[in-house]
Amino acid sequence: MLASPAVRAAPSTLDLLLLPLHRLVWADPHRRARKLLRFAETEADGGRDLARAAELTFDPALRRLYLRHAQDEQRHADLFRRRGRELLSQPGSASKFEANWLAPGERGLDDLRVEKQSDETLLAFLHLSEKAAAGRFVIYRRVLQADPDTRGVFARVLEDEAFHMTYTGKQLARLSPRKHGLRLWQARAGRLWKTYLRLASAVASVFGTVMLGLQYFLLLPAFALVAKRAARREPPGLAPSRPPTPLQSQY
Ligand SMILES: [Fe+2]
Ligand SMILES: [Fe+2]
Repeated sequence: MLASPAVRAAPSTLDLLLLPLHRLVWADPHRRARKLLRFAETEADGGRDLARAAELTFDPALRRLYLRHAQDEQRHADLFRRRGRELLSQPGSASKFEANWLAPGERGLDDLRVEKQSDETLLAFLHLSEKAAAGRFVIYRRVLQADPDTRGVFARVLEDEAFHMTYTGKQLARLSPRKHGLRLWQARAGRLWKTYLRLASAVASVFGTVMLGLQYFLLLPAFALVAKRAARREPPGLAPSRPPTPLQSQY
């Protein structure tokens, strides 16, 4: 097994500013459990994508690293799942709100098509993703003082994330010594675009809900009123049928 270099993961300024909100999100044990179970799915998904990347690469050193990375992500999935189930089995509140937009955990490969990526673009993407995940896990570890077991899970996962962040950066510099900065900027732009799409779909969903609500409460009563008035104009009882027209021909 490869030794993990000591790299310190740093949370983003935004996450540091939102620290009280993170504390609030993680305070409820049931919400914490569901978040851990969701993290487990993402980690397992990322592990599968990395195993596929190991199959596709022609670089023997990268293949070895991708395979180790895939095993790490699978182990993270097991750790998160186990702890999530433990928490779910404990009695507590049953809040359904997960605040995934605020505490998304590791985003995995974020629906990235591994087959369509070169080693360089994949490494650049992985480097940024692992860096972001490591920063978030530092925050989660910090706000979980009241739950040492879950905190311990994040501490163990964080060591691996720091290694993932480092090896992807070093391998990118090895494969692309002149253009690794450009590759990172391209990956950053891709992540920014995905963030915009996520935000836009969230705003569109809120907008759609508001519009439907307005239609229900403002338009529907007006139609109901018109229907009621029309019903009032109808004569009561049964209306006589039209007199039959005499038949003039066979048809
Ligand atoms: Fe992970
Ligand atoms: Fe990772």
